[in-house]
Amino acid sequence: MNKLIVSLLLTVGISGIAHAAGDATAGQAKAAVCGACHGPDGNSMAPNFPKLAGQGERYLNKQLHDIKSGKRTVLEMTGLLTNLSDQDLADISAYFASQKGSVGAADPKIVARGEALFRGGDLAKGLPACTGCHSPNGAGNAAAGFPHLGGQHAQYVGKQLTEFRKEEGGRTNDGDTKPMQSIAKKLSDEDIAAVSSYIQGLH
Ligand code: HEC
Ligand code: HEC
Repeated sequence: MNKLIVSLLLTVGISGIAHAAGDATAGQAKAAVCGACHGPDGNSMAPNFPKLAGQGERYLNKQLHDIKSGKRTVLEMTGLLTNLSDQDLADISAYFASQKGSVGAADPKIVARGEALFRGGDLAKGLPACTGCHSPNGAGNAAAGFPHLGGQHAQYVGKQLTEFRKEEGGRTNDGDTKPMQSIAKKLSDEDIAAVSSYIQGLH
């Protein structure tokens, strides 16, 4: 093989696996502009702005790259990430991951159905339990990039599930095996309302 190709392969291979390690302290300053919507410590007050506090670092970093590249559309963040480097995104991810996430409350009228879905799925519909990937307390699996859900705003969660469910457009960035797109297609509107409410109060 010619030397140029070998070195190209090496460069691609290495940059493919080596992610910049995030520095939470450096990330705090870089995240100042994000606080207006997501809250200074990542606990947003508005139900349509996701909480980032306590979210897994790997998941945050992936979303930031997806939003920056346009793989995931977030109109409110248009242009905001353009001038941020991979290191900036890694530092910001480390900062929000190091913060403590707050928890809300579930609607008592629909919490039972939400809990049953979250913990048991629905065998008849071939729907797996959410706990399998997002863990029983909603903490997710940071190393695997499965997001932390516990305490997240129900309105935001419901919107994501509705977007994942869309046949066209919607939220097309997903995990490697596209788990959420196939799972969301099995959820009715009532299922989404119930499980989102349950998640908001989960800790
Ligand atoms: C003007 C408001 C606004 C600002 C400022 C903003 N965001 Fe966002 N962000 C949003 C909204 C709204 C969403 C969710 C969009 C949706 O419903 O899919 C979002 C989503 C995200 C997500 C995905 C969260 C998840 O759980 O998947 C991350 C990560 C994120 N923002 C990080 C940042 C960072 C880092 C900054 C600062 C550089 C920032 N945002 C600035 C409004 C904002
Ligand atoms: C097979 C594993 C798996 C199962 C089971 C699963 N999820 Fe997910 N979920 C994921 C992965 C992976 C992502 C992140 C996708 C990405 O990286 O963009 C995700 C993302 C999400 C998000 C978006 C989080 C955010 O902050 O934007 C929500 C909401 C969600 N899942 C809810 C659920 C619910 C509710 C269930 C059960 C009905 C469920 N998931 C079952 C793997 C799973």
